[in-house]
This record gives sequence, structure tokens and C-alpha cells, in this order.
Amino acid sequence: MKLAVAGKGGVGKTSLTAWLGDYLARKGEEVMLLDADTALSLGQALGLEEHDIPTPLIQNKGLIKERVGEGFFQINPKVDDLPDRLSKQVGNLRLMVMGTISDAGSGCACSPNALVKAMLAHLIVKNQQWIIVDLEAGVEHLGRGTVEYVDGLIVVSEPSIRALQTAARISVLARQMGLDRQVLILNRASSDFVLPDIKGLPPLTAVIPVLPSLASRQLESSSVLDLAEKDYLDDIAARIITSLMK
Ligand SMILES: Nc1ncnc2c1ncn2[C@@H]1O[C@H](COP(=O)(O)OP(=O)(O)O)[C@@H](O)[C@H]1O
Ligand SMILES: [Mg+2]
Repeated sequence: MKLAVAGKGGVGKTSLTAWLGDYLARKGEEVMLLDADTALSLGQALGLEEHDIPTPLIQNKGLIKERVGEGFFQINPKVDDLPDRLSKQVGNLRLMVMGTISDAGSGCACSPNALVKAMLAHLIVKNQQWIIVDLEAGVEHLGRGTVEYVDGLIVVSEPSIRALQTAARISVLARQMGLDRQVLILNRASSDFVLPDIKGLPPLTAVIPVLPSLASRQLESSSVLDLAEKDYLDDIAARIITSLMK
């Protein structure tokens, strides 16, 4: 299954991507995580040191040119070799990084985006194979069409009106692209939080409180894995997967 994780900046998209990927990989599934956020933090959330994070796709200009060309994009670029070629084994899952726009030396991320889009569109994902895309904050990536080719959308929000409004906008946009399998995850919210009546939000599937062990670790490490609350997070991950596969 191909999933994307979206929401306002700072709400917990990258953390949730790491938790979900880690959970599935420990269950023996084949997982590839794709960092499509310009902040490049998924590798760090997985506990990697800077030098262990795979080279961003956007720096591989030769490959991008070869596959999608310049100007007129090739519609069906060859992509089946790309996951192996561009991703790196991290523990029991694989990580691929798209990279920041500034790295490319131009203001346009369209070619690497086109390649990522082609990959999501044409890669055949079998049973027990997962691609999870950690999207850039906001709704821009949806507009560029990445989300057209995923099977499920995980919308993350904090219990704030701004984050929830962004969540609703993302959800509506994705539904307009035909993506109906969606879940809403409220992060850093207390269990008695009452969801305000905002039109367009996906069904609320899980509420994650502030995790004390993550909060207290932040000054030493950016890893979000192997927390004291791991079993709890596994339950949340299982619930998300079940809801999306319904
Ligand atoms: N439930 C939580 N409890 C405590 N800290 C959290 C929680 N969720 C996320 N964080 C922390 O908040 C920060 C932002 O989370 P992140 O996943 O990077 O958000 P995003 O990818 O949406 O920008 C990170 O430092 C992360 O470790
Ligand atoms: Mg992030």
C-alpha cells in the first residue's frame, strides 16, 4: 500500500511516518519511507546521523534528466529500479530522500517531483509492501499531484484551529483527487479534547498525547524511535493501518 502523511508544519508528520514505518517493518512487512519534506528530518527521526542519511534525489541531476528529461516531461519514465538505487537500508526498512529545493541550485523542484510522482504512479506495490511518503507541510505537494497516486492519506493535526483548518483543506483537496481513504490523527492532544466542528475533516482515528519520553529526550537526540511509549504507539499504528485498509 502507498500512503502519504500530510498536515501543517510541526504537527508530527515526520514522527508519525517513522512510528508507522518502524511498526510495519518490525511486523515483517517491506517498508520504504520517502522523505518528501524540504526539512529533511525523517532520517534524523529514524535516529540516523547526518552522514548516514541517503543522498537526496534532487542532487542526482543526471538521473533526473535521464528519466524525466527537461522541458517536456517524459510521461512514463523507467522507475522500477529506482527504489533500490536511491534508497538506503536503515535497520529493517528503507529510506529515500527527495531533498530540499535549494540544493538543486534552482528554484524549481518540478523535475524531482515529476520523478517521485512517476515512481508513486508506476511502482507496483505488492501485499506486505509499503511506501509511506512524509509530505511537505501544507497543501502544495497535493497540488503537485503526488497524492493522486497513493492509496491512503494520513492527515495529522494538533489541537489548534489553524492546524485543523489546514487538515480539513488537505483532506478536501485529496478527496477531490479521488483519495477517499483518509484518517485524521490528533497529535499532542489530551484524550478529552473535543474536536471542533470543522467541515471536511477526515474521520478521527487516533489521539496521541504529548509523549513524556520524547519530550524529555529532545535535547540529546532527534530519534523518535524506541520510546518508553512504544507499545502504545504500536497500537496506534495498528489502528491506522486497519482503518486505511477497510
Ligand atoms: N506526541 C508528541 N509528544 C512529544 N513530542 C512530539 C510529539 N509529536 C511530535 N513531537 C516532537 O515535535 C516536533 C515536531 O514533530 P515532527 O514530527 O517533526 O513534525 P512535522 O514533521 O509535522 O513538522 C519534533 O521535535 C517531535 O519530536
Ligand atoms: Mg516533517
